[in-house]
Amino acid sequence: MKRKLLKFSGPFIKVQYLEDVTDYDIKTRTILLNIGENPVLIAGKALKPWHSSIFANTTVPKAQKLVSITIKPDYISQKSFKYAAQAKKKWTRIYKLYPLQKFKNTNLWRSDTDKAGRFIFYLWFASAGTDCRIHKHPNDFKEIHTQIFGVGRMQKFHENKQSSIYQEVFMSPGYTHEPFYNAKGKYPWHAYYADTDCIWLAIEGAPSRVS
Ligand SMILES: [Fe+2]
Repeated sequence: MKRKLLKFSGPFIKVQYLEDVTDYDIKTRTILLNIGENPVLIAGKALKPWHSSIFANTTVPKAQKLVSITIKPDYISQKSFKYAAQAKKKWTRIYKLYPLQKFKNTNLWRSDTDKAGRFIFYLWFASAGTDCRIHKHPNDFKEIHTQIFGVGRMQKFHENKQSSIYQEVFMSPGYTHEPFYNAKGKYPWHAYYADTDCIWLAIEGAPSRVS
């Protein structure tokens, strides 16, 4: 089994990229995301490609590619994220990454990026009540997100304005949304909204179609 601890991991969050997995023991609660081409059998049930869940006290007999995520102290809290100050200090505020007016007061931070296999990974942290702003991507930018901490939502819009919202997908810990791009890679206008403090993993390089 090949293991890579992604470099943005730290004292409170650990994200591992795993290949050629055999008899992988899961003890404490761990998010497993299947990024291989085939379903992965866990405790007798299939975890489909580009699906994820939180597992504990089980063994993954075999998997082609997995992402394994743990966070301290838990996946949800009634209060703010315990290590919010550390995430904000270590990661980069969105306005610094993209100095656009719309991001000026947006409480959104991004970790460094890391590459593994054909994928690019990074983490986002948003404070409770943050609208992470409507945007779109070019057709070859195939992003998918896995919620790690807190509760947020991915929203779709007909136009680049709030009132044109037409779909909302709630994101809770361990959940991965289906691609927002269509089979041709075309995106709708979309945004992430953080209801509580939220941390989620972004993966670029997902397939054109996910079953
Ligand atoms: Fe996006």
